[in-house]
Amino acid sequence: MAEFLITDESLTSVEGKVVIVTGGSSGIGLSTVQLLLSLGASVVGADLHEPLEGAVSSARFTFNQADVSKWQDLVGLFKKAIQLHGRVDHVLSNAGVGPRTNYINGIELDENGDPKEPTSLVPDVNLKGAINTATLAIHYIRKNPSGGSIVVTSSATGLHRFRGVDYTVSKHGTIGLIRGLHTALAAQDIPVRINGLVPHWTASGIVQEELFKELGIYTQPASAVARAAVKLFADESRRGQLIHVDHGVYKEVDETLLQVYETFQHEESTGGDEGIALLAARLNWFTDAK
Ligand SMILES: NC(=O)c1ccc[n+]([C@@H]2O[C@H](COP(=O)([O-])OP(=O)(O)OC[C@H]3O[C@@H](n4cnc5c(N)ncnc54)[C@H](O)[C@@H]3O)[C@@H](O)[C@H]2O)c1
Repeated sequence: MAEFLITDESLTSVEGKVVIVTGGSSGIGLSTVQLLLSLGASVVGADLHEPLEGAVSSARFTFNQADVSKWQDLVGLFKKAIQLHGRVDHVLSNAGVGPRTNYINGIELDENGDPKEPTSLVPDVNLKGAINTATLAIHYIRKNPSGGSIVVTSSATGLHRFRGVDYTVSKHGTIGLIRGLHTALAAQDIPVRINGLVPHWTASGIVQEELFKELGIYTQPASAVARAAVKLFADESRRGQLIHVDHGVYKEVDETLLQVYETFQHEESTGGDEGIALLAARLNWFTDAK
């Protein structure tokens, strides 16, 4: 698994770029906003609430209130960025909430004594929000002659077993989003790169450092993850990658994982994506919207 360092020089190409960051008022998102601004990018931060006073002070920053689970809020966010800057170069889809749904013992009953549907807040924000943010990002970024990129904050939880089921589902889902869009964008030669972050425990609003310290769990600073987000924007060679960040150590994991998966396939098997490419050509799938 390839461990790599992130030098300051390798981040400088974001100067002058226009970047949208969702969940940009706290934790990993806020730290990414601060790093981007320090490197000379213009940033539109989207969140339910503004950053705390004094956390961001730059004329190149605009706050746009948006709930990423609402399509119209996301449309308003992208339109605001276009109105302000004329284009969008990069998007960090990062807004997220922690686990909260108990699918095993938490079922509530309605007035008739029937089981009530559990809340879908976590998949609505963490997964539907990411899908819709990426969809709008592709719509706008592909208009740029030189394209741009999307980074999705997934989680190490998207790669392993984890008992916060709603969160695990949503983060596995975002890895599917990255893998699927990477493959489909490349197949259609659309100049939009997509990559993901799969951070381990990181001090933030969701993961409160003091509590985790009491439990003996190390939390890395959000700034360590922010560097990986900006690296993925800045480095045009990175495509379809998942960057694991733990104790501030950076490793690309997906190329290794996918190589392991290939060893499970029969030697004469037609690859899954190769198969769907043949079907798509025969049945005229994935053509442009009318
Ligand atoms: N902290 C960790 O250990 C860790 C590890 C892996 C992945 N992540 C992911 O990192 C991302 C950022 O989280 P964080 O840890 O920095 O926590 P955080 O709470 O500090 O930041 C999350 C931000 O998202 C915003 N948000 C929540 N719901 C929203 C909505 N519907 N619309 C718009 N904004 C909304 C919150 O207001 C908050 O500002 C999340 O996707 C989280 O799942 C965190």
